Amino acid sequence: MKETGSGRGERRGKPGRLKRVLITLGVVVGVLIAALGGGVAWLWTSADVSTVGKVSFRNELAIPPLADSTVEQDGTRVFDLRMQAGETEFKDGQQTPTWGFNGSYLGPTLRAERGEKVKVRIANGLDEASTVHWHGMHLPAKMDGGPHQMVRPGGTWTPDWKVDQPAATLWYHPHPHGATEKHVQRGLAGMFLLDDEKSARLPLPGTYGVDDIPVIVQDTKFDGAKFDHGRGMMRSLGFLGDQTLVNGTLAPYQEVGDELVRLRLLNASTARTYAFGFSDSRQFALIGTDGGLLEAPVRMGGHLRLSPGERAEVVVRMEPGEKTVLRSFPQRLGDAFNTRFGGGDDSFDILQLRAGDTLRPSPELPDMLGELEIPEGKDPARGRHFDLKLSGINGRKMDMGRIDEVVTRGTEEVWTVRNGNGMAHNFHVHDVQFRVLEMDGQAPPPELRGAKDTVFIPDGSTVKLAMRFDGPPDPDVPYMYHCHLLYHEDLGMMGQFVVVEKGQQAGTPPPGRHQH
Ligand code: C2O
Ligand code: CU
Ligand code: CU
Repeated sequence: MKETGSGRGERRGKPGRLKRVLITLGVVVGVLIAALGGGVAWLWTSADVSTVGKVSFRNELAIPPLADSTVEQDGTRVFDLRMQAGETEFKDGQQTPTWGFNGSYLGPTLRAERGEKVKVRIANGLDEASTVHWHGMHLPAKMDGGPHQMVRPGGTWTPDWKVDQPAATLWYHPHPHGATEKHVQRGLAGMFLLDDEKSARLPLPGTYGVDDIPVIVQDTKFDGAKFDHGRGMMRSLGFLGDQTLVNGTLAPYQEVGDELVRLRLLNASTARTYAFGFSDSRQFALIGTDGGLLEAPVRMGGHLRLSPGERAEVVVRMEPGEKTVLRSFPQRLGDAFNTRFGGGDDSFDILQLRAGDTLRPSPELPDMLGELEIPEGKDPARGRHFDLKLSGINGRKMDMGRIDEVVTRGTEEVWTVRNGNGMAHNFHVHDVQFRVLEMDGQAPPPELRGAKDTVFIPDGSTVKLAMRFDGPPDPDVPYMYHCHLLYHEDLGMMGQFVVVEKGQQAGTPPPGRHQH
């Protein structure tokens, strides 16, 4: 009896215990799945942001001042830039700790002409080392301001070069290896405009800050008065903010007194890609890309995509008394997951344009703007392939002591760049302006038909780029190529190339990060 009882008890007990364990397990798994599902759902629904219709446009757009310069006896134009820490009032009565050049946030607009010699006296007033890189500029590698030209705290660096490229909207920003994202996010960036005789003769809107407006677009996020640059969950692209600044102004408007206004768009955000258009879907004309003017203006009905580092010059027509808003629209950035978590479902009201009641008449845009000075890629000396991965380009993480590619001065090459990494990237090459020959075997869209130094490459896409390396040769000091999503660059999605004379070998990069 006892045994049986106990046996029965055991028999009853075993399934009982098992059942309890199973039920508990089931509940735990269920809760986990629900939590996970809920978490994913929460992440998904909280992943998109929109400021459309919610921006007050109460602040007049700040126009970065044109940098003062002096001219030395031999004609060299000299600028001064000082990197410094400060505080900026983005929101009324709130001081945000920021960095800037010659001020607390961003920097003055440098401007020089083709053929001019320029010199920039850089002073580092920060308490950490940094660099200043001239993005889009053709210049000697040791003047490039990449990670090999570090300026220690309190130190100075004075690069000089001769401007030898067409009129363009270029920019400058720090490039310290592993910390570029942080330095740019805190406010170190500015425009560098180049002019030439050809562009000066064209009847384009060209009065700086009046009908020719710099538009430096950055996304940001605040935690009270402070920036909150945390990446958040699922953000493999890097930081994505929940509002936008133009030239450091929140909720900006710009008064327009001319029929035609030229906007020089610069995406100075660290990870966000924009699809620009206007709130009323008005058409605009695209007249320039990264490296200068297009052959002819292109009427744009759709949206103009700019990934981090890219620029575009557009001209928009205004009627007296009207308002319109420069907006960034939702866009596909690969599959649904990448689009969602890459900011593709986001939209932003970026800058309001307010036309005066009477407008100065503007001449019609010319039919032709001039010839492109970028290689055709018809008979390249050689081709190279680049496979983009977050873990490194062509399977290698950036190493300051390793030269990845050696190119011969004066030759044309075609670079094939493929992104099969499951997330969006872009690709920037120092020193050159390239031609996008094709994107996935097709002729590129209008915004990629001019001179480019940075190109967006969605997941699963391949671009072919034609470029020409005109030196000067320097076997030791490399230029960079990299993803311009700055978090990715900092992680090591970057490589180095040197330009050498035919038959010359690569040398040794200068040692270390702190050369001073
Ligand atoms: Cu805009 Cu290598 O940088
Ligand atoms: Cu660059
Ligand atoms: Cu990337």
